[in-house]
Amino acid sequence: PEDQFKNVISHAKEYGFVFQSSEIYDGLSAVYDYGQNGALLKNNLKEYWWRSMVQLHENIVGIDSAIFMHPSVWKASGHVDAFNDPMIDNKDSKKRYRADVLIEDHMEKINQKADKEVAKAAKRFGESFDEAMFRKTNPRVLKYVDQVDAIRTRFVKALEENDLADLKQLIEDEGITCPISGSKNWTEVRQFNLMFGTKLGSVAEDASDLYLRPETAQGIFVNFLNVQKTGRMKIPFGIAQIGKAFRNEIVARQFIFRMREFEQMEMQFFVRPGEEMKWYEYWKEHRMKWHKLLGLGEDNYRFHDHDKLAHYANAAADIEFNFPFGFKELEGIHSRTDFDLGRHQEMSGKKLQYFDPEINKNYVPYVVETSVGLDRLFLGTLATAYTEETLEDGSTRTVLRLPLPLAPIKAAILPLLRKDGLPELAREIFNDLKFDFQVQYDEKDAIGKRYRRQDAVGTPLCITVDHDSLEDKTVTIRHRDSMEQERVSIDSLNQRLRELVSM
Ligand code: GAP
Repeated sequence: PEDQFKNVISHAKEYGFVFQSSEIYDGLSAVYDYGQNGALLKNNLKEYWWRSMVQLHENIVGIDSAIFMHPSVWKASGHVDAFNDPMIDNKDSKKRYRADVLIEDHMEKINQKADKEVAKAAKRFGESFDEAMFRKTNPRVLKYVDQVDAIRTRFVKALEENDLADLKQLIEDEGITCPISGSKNWTEVRQFNLMFGTKLGSVAEDASDLYLRPETAQGIFVNFLNVQKTGRMKIPFGIAQIGKAFRNEIVARQFIFRMREFEQMEMQFFVRPGEEMKWYEYWKEHRMKWHKLLGLGEDNYRFHDHDKLAHYANAAADIEFNFPFGFKELEGIHSRTDFDLGRHQEMSGKKLQYFDPEINKNYVPYVVETSVGLDRLFLGTLATAYTEETLEDGSTRTVLRLPLPLAPIKAAILPLLRKDGLPELAREIFNDLKFDFQVQYDEKDAIGKRYRRQDAVGTPLCITVDHDSLEDKTVTIRHRDSMEQERVSIDSLNQRLRELVSM
């Protein structure tokens, strides 16, 4: 998988999906640009999400709020005081780490040891892994399980109480070493705020401090009443948004998985107090279904329920995806209570309440949010679609098996030869289809080479114009995955494409 991931990254660059930002200046760490094919794929992912959220739900509407917001927003939301990562430096390697990530990785290693013991026991007793896990009678397994439980209890307590000294002590007690140098020589743990600051106004003295938003959600909370009133929305209802967010991530890792500038697709669902757990469960299931429908493989998803909660949440779960580097967070579903609206009401002095005619009561609504990282969705899609195949004749091809509606280019129009009127007819077809579909005209190189180029960017259909086409007005459609070919009339192309590649 390591190698496969490297291949995905170089493929993403070679075929115009993802470039390093400012590459000619050697790049900017954890910032990336989307190229000509990447931008199309990303837009398709956005559209797929927006349609299912906004178009298919009568009670969800979409907005587009500004990245800059009044500085008080981030005081109210808790981000100024609590949006921190606990950092620790290794004195020998001079490398900086997130203390919580070091401890989580450590627990993961112990879990892996336990899994090994379970697998051994399963083999010995001829049981399945799950059966052996269920019995858990093996004292060696129990020892590991207890060890992880003890670490987790202490870890969660230290985080909740913001006890940085105990986090450091935990790292020392567990003998956690620097992944680079193997050294145990650590500094104290310090809090590091993740928000990027900037200034509004030109003269330094009167300029006021602004932040680049670290989540899109607050743009929705401050517009709650605007949307509710102007849209005459009735609870329960949702507000959705797609937009950029910025975090000064210290440990930027794994290509576009953890970026400093990234995009979120969030939806805040406003509910009656007391009904939040019902809606939390509803959105967990609903979002999982949405992901699975994408067609990247149902086994590539799992839930991870949080025992360590963000400052605003009373319940939280991640939908994790099987990335090339293992199962990692793709989307978060959080029950945020009335924390945000309540805090904004307090700070702004404006009532942020809803009158519920059914129970004849005014209240500050509770919120369940779904928040998916667009770039992570992109990475998961690209990495899973990336396939290296050996064909029957022994040759190889690289193909992106993207879900058809997500493919950047839906069809390539290819004249077999660059003469005899074939390019003219092919251009005619291209000019006809381009109003309805993202299509591409290509006449360079031998036909086999052109097919491979389209495979590599995931184009589902290649439409080839040959000499017979001039006579009988038919063309060959070649399918990306099966490589099968069929003959269809030019007149039917638009309808065929609609059937095969529309969202
Ligand atoms: N409003 C809630 C919120 O922002 P979060 O769990 O911090 O929650 C939601 O972020 C999603 O945003 C994550 O599940 C992840 O997909 C994406 N995300 C967060 N930080 C990111 C980063 N540095 N780079 C790329 N995606 C990120």
